[in-house]
Amino acid sequence: MTVPGISAEPPEALRPHAEDAFAEELKALAAADDRPRPARWRLSPWAVATYLLGGVLPDGSVITPKYVGPRRIIEVAVTTLATDRALLLLGVPGTAKTWVSEHLAAAVSGDSTLLVQGTAGTAEEAVRYGWNYARLLAHGPSREALVPSPVMRAMAEGMTARVEELTRIPADVQDSLITVLSEKTLPIPELGEEVQAVRGFNLIATANDRDRGVNELSSALRRRFNTVVLPLPGTPEQEVEIVARRVDQIGRSLELPPAPDAVAEIRRVVTVFRELREGVTADGRTKLKSPSGTLSTAEAISVITGGLALAAHFGDGVLRAGDVAAGILGAVVRDPAADRTVWQEYLETVVRERDGWQDFYRACREVSR
Ligand SMILES: Nc1ncnc2c1ncn2[C@@H]1O[C@H](COP(=O)(O)OP(=O)(O)O)[C@@H](O)[C@H]1O
Ligand SMILES: [Mg+2]
Repeated sequence: MTVPGISAEPPEALRPHAEDAFAEELKALAAADDRPRPARWRLSPWAVATYLLGGVLPDGSVITPKYVGPRRIIEVAVTTLATDRALLLLGVPGTAKTWVSEHLAAAVSGDSTLLVQGTAGTAEEAVRYGWNYARLLAHGPSREALVPSPVMRAMAEGMTARVEELTRIPADVQDSLITVLSEKTLPIPELGEEVQAVRGFNLIATANDRDRGVNELSSALRRRFNTVVLPLPGTPEQEVEIVARRVDQIGRSLELPPAPDAVAEIRRVVTVFRELREGVTADGRTKLKSPSGTLSTAEAISVITGGLALAAHFGDGVLRAGDVAAGILGAVVRDPAADRTVWQEYLETVVRERDGWQDFYRACREVSR
């Protein structure tokens, strides 16, 4: 869309879409990809999976991993998109549901922007279509007066549509997706017409485990989806890798200088988050209480990014305990009363006694006061 006075393509979008940020990789994959592609897919299922999981192509091009986790999960997700069933990515917050959905749409359709953001206020127009009232009043109902939703556009063009936070959408609006997904058509009664989905159309929805019950999916809708559960990172090493990789990308886009040895501090933040999340220390010896917030990988990423910015702007550029302590406190203590007790207990019983963690203990004490 062009907005007067605003250049159509900003030279440096603050957060470019996946298909732009990784255009080079997608191009290299398309060139190397000689496997069959489903109708209107930019890549074969194999190449889409490689785009998500990373790899090296025969010509030496390196594809960076976007998702770190079980290969099978991505293979099932990609395969689902090539069938007539839609894909539901389910998991606790911060397990890369949105991230995977965006990259899948970018790789399959070359466009990750056909997106409906689910909230309690999401109306039917966001899923079906709306009207341009000026045109409607001037000329009556016509195709020109109709404002298609992202889902309708994806159907008409054989592309991938995305619905974020599906379970937050009111039940009656969710229901309008049933016809779309089962009949692959969107009736427009006002015009006596319909939009039929073109081959290549499919839909990726995401939903949080934690929201279950907010608007439980109807079984009719649920049956239209293949559900893929995204797990929390299996091992601390995996989680450190995910955080390090993302922090590096984000840091570069914020033009932060590269921080040497940030990985030591990343390992510490990941350890703290995992121990509190799992309610037990890494050595399995001490039981812990868990705070109310989700201490997800995504949160670890923002704590480290925030710390790096502190180190760059107000320190000597080396990430230290003092740069992450405040961020950790903010992530852990969501409920001022209960979570603070949990945190104090963890500090005094675990952090204080741990070899090599004295600097961290002092820094946390400092910000906890
Ligand atoms: N397994 C993983 N592999 C790669 N990145 C991950 C993984 N888990 C979390 N992340 C990172 O966490 C961040 C938040 O993920 P997001 O997709 O917003 O979570 P969700 O939608 O599940 O709440 C993303 O930047 C993503 O890169
Ligand atoms: Mg999300």
